Amino acid sequence: MTQDELKQAVARAAIDYVVDGEIIGVGTGSTANFFIDELGRIKHRIKGAVASSEATAARLKSHGIAVFDLNDVDSMPVYIDGADEITPHGAMIKGGGAALTREKIVASVAGKFICIADGSKLVDVLGSFPLPVEVIPMAQAVVARKLAALGGEPRLRLKDGRPLMTDNGCVIIDVVGLNIPNPAEMEAAINGIVGVVTVGLFAQRGADVGLLGMADGVRTMTFRQGSAA
Ligand code: A5P
Repeated sequence: MTQDELKQAVARAAIDYVVDGEIIGVGTGSTANFFIDELGRIKHRIKGAVASSEATAARLKSHGIAVFDLNDVDSMPVYIDGADEITPHGAMIKGGGAALTREKIVASVAGKFICIADGSKLVDVLGSFPLPVEVIPMAQAVVARKLAALGGEPRLRLKDGRPLMTDNGCVIIDVVGLNIPNPAEMEAAINGIVGVVTVGLFAQRGADVGLLGMADGVRTMTFRQGSAA
């Protein structure tokens, strides 16, 4: 199976977690896009969705799915999104698609986080994938120095030769070469750096369920019981 076929398989499997009549939180990225396409087929069963990026909102709308502002939503049973890396404990690195802040916000409202990913994303220790950190632009240099002090090599993310700007008007620093044996501790440490908006470690609130696409089928990993915000 190709990587895209694995992503498609987990996207299809995630439909079983959609709760009829409710609003669903939807992530960003290529795997989330496959999920949105599947969601389009059963859109009559849901009330609508909250999007974690402008790109996801546009794709949901293109399928005729109602997109709600998070400020108008008190709770949602499920949030479904991809990951750049996920451990056997459900801790993740996210933000390869630059949507980490909105992803973390929407996930914080959901009862359960269902992570969908091809099997290549499963790792024992996080950190081979550069850790994305969203930063207030004026704090870029000072935050980069503090991230370097944690042992990584900070690199400003560029697009077309210029700093990539997120949906929130911020920049992304990707930290290369970190070894992250304790993701929740590292998440707290980076959250404590002034000027950081969001770190792409999802460990304090990781995934509740992982649906991982393997050559022999979709593997379901249950990490914890979901809890609403
Ligand atoms: C988007 O900002 C990310 O958090 C994505 O969830 C992550 O990069 C996974 O993307 P793919 O599904 O494209 O691999």
